[in-house]
Amino acid sequence: MAPSPSPSPKTVVITVPTLILAVAGAVIFVFLLMSSSFSYSPPSCSCPTGSTVQTIRRQQISATPDDIRWLKSQIEVNGLHMQDNVLRKGINPRTRAQQLQDLIQYKGISHYEKEEEAKNHTSLPCPNELLVEEHHSNYGEPWAGGRDVFEFLAESSQLAPESRVLEIGCGTLRVGLHFIDYLAPEHFHCLERDELSLMAAFRYELPAHGLLQKRPLIVKGEAMEFERFGSGFEYDLIYASAVFLHMPDKLVWVGLERLVGRLKPLDGRIFVSHNVKFCSRLGGDECSKRLKSLGLEYMGKHTHDSLLFNHYEIWFEFRRSKL
Ligand SMILES: C[S@@+](CC[C@H](N)C(=O)[O-])C[C@H]1O[C@@H](n2cnc3c(N)ncnc32)[C@H](O)[C@@H]1O
Repeated sequence: MAPSPSPSPKTVVITVPTLILAVAGAVIFVFLLMSSSFSYSPPSCSCPTGSTVQTIRRQQISATPDDIRWLKSQIEVNGLHMQDNVLRKGINPRTRAQQLQDLIQYKGISHYEKEEEAKNHTSLPCPNELLVEEHHSNYGEPWAGGRDVFEFLAESSQLAPESRVLEIGCGTLRVGLHFIDYLAPEHFHCLERDELSLMAAFRYELPAHGLLQKRPLIVKGEAMEFERFGSGFEYDLIYASAVFLHMPDKLVWVGLERLVGRLKPLDGRIFVSHNVKFCSRLGGDECSKRLKSLGLEYMGKHTHDSLLFNHYEIWFEFRRSKL
């Protein structure tokens, strides 16, 4: 059989339609490559959206409408109603005064050890008045409302755990506790003048909430002596909850003057509750002028609905206007 003619190795025969097809294919390939590199869309997944990512980074602080719905449903599902708090199985209601008396007389109503054996079972005895939480009734407003104040202030000033916070007049830590819990160690500072409140804060509230390791810097003082907190940092939030209304106006202004340089410029916030009579008593124009001369700017009045005070709170917001 005669061998079939083989084409010369150097000659490649390409027909015109093949050439057109090859060029078109190359153009389409280059186009697809370029467009994919400019508009990459990831494979579909149930990844969190931008806002969820933010929520994960900035821990949820206030109750959401979903939380409230859940709360209501739990009360309903369990058929719960407020009842009179009377003696019943294993429950022996006492007033604070009765409980204090029990502690003084018997070391607590359910303590059966004899006098000698019952002694010295603690490294640091806690005063009975603190154990019955008398200090929770020191203010007109309920103790638990401190959580609402925290939620409002933390959300309004976009606080993160690394933020730094100063409270003027933290009292028994009704509000401060929640900040101490949320913030990094040593990032909560407070200036408070009342000795009994400070004892309640140190001796009862911090240990009761497992917060000793957060090492809050709480200083006894009443003359706005903020240099005692050290230097080399700026506060993200400075607040006075139910405090400025109890102080002479002059002292409030001294405080503000000393605080301006300690507040983070523009992003840092000062919040004052109830009213700003220290300012309005000067007269509208005079008040603005004085704030301006200090480098402070009034940002507005807020009301905040509350789960635990059963009424809204009023807050006044300021920031540092000059760098
Ligand atoms: C109504 S209590 C509020 C306590 C806390 N801020 C709260 O909301 O739970 C007012 C607090 O301000 C404190 N205070 C008043 N004048 C002060 C001053 N010049 N310096 C520091 N603390 C002061 C009082 O001792 C008291 O503890």
